[in-house]
Amino acid sequence: MTTTNDTATFTVENRIAWVKFNRPEKRNCMSPTLNRRMMEILDELEFRDDVGVLVLTGEGTAWSAGMDLKEYFRETEALGLGATRKAQRESYGWWRRLRWYQKPTIAMVNGWCFGGGYGPLYSCDLAIAADEAQFALSEINWGILPGGGATKVVVDLIPMRDAMYHAMTGELIDGQKAAAWRLVNESVPLERLEARVRELAEVLLKKNSVALKATKDAVRRVKEMTYDSAEDYLVRAQEAANFHDNTGRKEGIKQFIDDKTYKPGLGAYDLAKQN
Ligand code: ACO
Repeated sequence: MTTTNDTATFTVENRIAWVKFNRPEKRNCMSPTLNRRMMEILDELEFRDDVGVLVLTGEGTAWSAGMDLKEYFRETEALGLGATRKAQRESYGWWRRLRWYQKPTIAMVNGWCFGGGYGPLYSCDLAIAADEAQFALSEINWGILPGGGATKVVVDLIPMRDAMYHAMTGELIDGQKAAAWRLVNESVPLERLEARVRELAEVLLKKNSVALKATKDAVRRVKEMTYDSAEDYLVRAQEAANFHDNTGRKEGIKQFIDDKTYKPGLGAYDLAKQN
């Protein structure tokens, strides 16, 4: 099913939801309308059984040119503090929703990625860029600090010297440098981008979905915990996951130890045989 009539669109195909920023003529910058539409799309897809992975990409030459300087900043600020706070809630809201999304998520960065775009970039669990993509914290170029979490994103993901340089100069880096800095997992030529993302999505589709959700949350949560807190959290998180799916791990052990049909060191157990 495809919706095509607005600022963001999606298509579901073979259990992959391809969600697209869809303002190519505005380089997919994020307006309040786009932010509201994104939340609607996330709502619609989150618990659908025919969706196993969500990919976030952009129509045209941009992934996202960040916040819409006209609609998100100038026009909203002209309406007063209440409107500004509402616009912030709406953008930060869908990024947060995406950060803790039920399904695994992949950012497929096809082109320009600026400033506010780092919010949804960070929200996606994994990120694959085109070598040709261009990234920058361009806030400094128009006279503000990288807000909306962008400073936090680079400090979380990349080394301090690189983060500082990136934030203070506003210089562009390409996909390969973004991968070297670990802003994204890897970078491939644009012509191979979709195939590589599809391949990665298919790896994820073979995993137990409850275990994937528990794992992605655990990686984000433990980052801010002491070792002892993390140890405790992980015991409880696994036990909570067992509540949602108590057959998965038993089947995983059985297919290895009894059936000898796979080796966990070399790939995932067969989900189709799980009751
Ligand atoms: N906010 C508002 N409008 C934008 C934005 C934006 N972030 N980015 C692009 N547009 C608009 C342009 O104003 C232009 O509109 P128009 O056709 O009505 O004149 C249209 O999109 C196309 O943009 P061009 O600049 O003509 O496209 P080009 O391909 O030459 O350049 C580029 C692309 C480099 C992305 C350029 O548009 C740009 O620098 N955009 C701003 C990037 C940026 O710094 N974003 C803010 C980051 S900070 C933050 O998000 C908080």
